[in-house]
Amino acid sequence: MKLSRILSNRNDISRRQANFLIASGRVAVNDVTCRDAAAEVDRFSCVRMDGDIIQEAEACHYLMLHKPAGFLSATLDDTHRTVMELISPELREDLHIAGRLDRASTGLLILTNDGRWSRQLTEPRIKIPKVYRVSTAYPISPETPHRFAEGIWFEFEQLTTSPADLDLLSPCEARVTIYEGRYHQVKRMFHAVGNRVTALHRERMGNILLDDDLAAGEYRSLTAEEINLMPD
Ligand code: URA
Repeated sequence: MKLSRILSNRNDISRRQANFLIASGRVAVNDVTCRDAAAEVDRFSCVRMDGDIIQEAEACHYLMLHKPAGFLSATLDDTHRTVMELISPELREDLHIAGRLDRASTGLLILTNDGRWSRQLTEPRIKIPKVYRVSTAYPISPETPHRFAEGIWFEFEQLTTSPADLDLLSPCEARVTIYEGRYHQVKRMFHAVGNRVTALHRERMGNILLDDDLAAGEYRSLTAEEINLMPD
């Protein structure tokens, strides 16, 4: 929200007065004077006027969850258990999921209340690598790495997926890196080459690795270093 709007949301300050107060250097955002009335200020920033708090900074939450199979990546569902049920009630209220996993898939799931940060993880344009360990029903053919690197045509979206990497681990197992996060993307890519995914486990998103110490169903806060690993 614009800084002038945050001020003028207070009943006794008009928009014009807000602009004047800001230009006079009486308003600070996170303890730094801000003279730009049009500056975008999020709810995680503290705004003060003459030292008095106008907006309290809300706490940011960034969590890594080891998603177990059988839980839906959703905030609410009538039929299935959701990943939110694994998060303590006082934290879960405000969180959203940054990059879903299918109900049967397991591994790294990131939850946050910071939409600006999470968009960097999920925007296909930003091309953050997502790394999956995949098991398949049939041996992975020698052409598959090449097909994935070329991109796979998705009829429904009328697009070709970005080049993806495939490292063969055993005849029916691979590590696959994709740079988007389209609906059922990895399963659909294998389907397009005549195979079928039987298990999918996300190991990494960008530079954030699923912590080996987290058992399925457990979560922890990201460290400051992990949060800052995201590109600006
Ligand atoms: N691709 C899939 O097909 N499923 C997932 O859960 C994630 C990526």
